[in-house]
Amino acid sequence: MNRRSFLSWGSAGVVALGSGVGVSLGAVVRFLMPSVFYEPPQVFKVGTPADFAFGAPTFLVDEKIFVFRDREKGFAVASAVCTHLGCTVAYFQSDQRFHCPCHGSVFASNGSVVHGPAPKALQWYEVTLARDGQLRVDKDKVVPSSYRLMV
Ligand code: FES
Repeated sequence: MNRRSFLSWGSAGVVALGSGVGVSLGAVVRFLMPSVFYEPPQVFKVGTPADFAFGAPTFLVDEKIFVFRDREKGFAVASAVCTHLGCTVAYFQSDQRFHCPCHGSVFASNGSVVHGPAPKALQWYEVTLARDGQLRVDKDKVVPSSYRLMV
């Protein structure tokens, strides 16, 4: 082996060693970084009471909730997430029920299961009036389906 080929092989070895160390360091840094999943906020404002019509609920796509406004009973907020596998349910004013398009679960207007495969009722969330006059929904606070906010 002459001097030139020795240096050539030596350079290749240094490069291979450097890239191996680089990959290892990358794996260590990745291991040390927390795997964080950012969830949307569970407490949020949805608008003023005047933004919501009486009668049919308003579906808020991003929040996956229905906001009900009733003249006598006030405001109520229901989850639009099916309790079977998490599809988004739709509310049909014609039969006043929630229908899941994925596997056919049907929920009564109070969120209870009419027929499955959904194992349990839709959740209802606390809704309060914030100081600025907007409705504030807290998805961390599950309330009975009879809960209402009178405004
Ligand atoms: S996800 Fe709704 S019935 Fe399956």
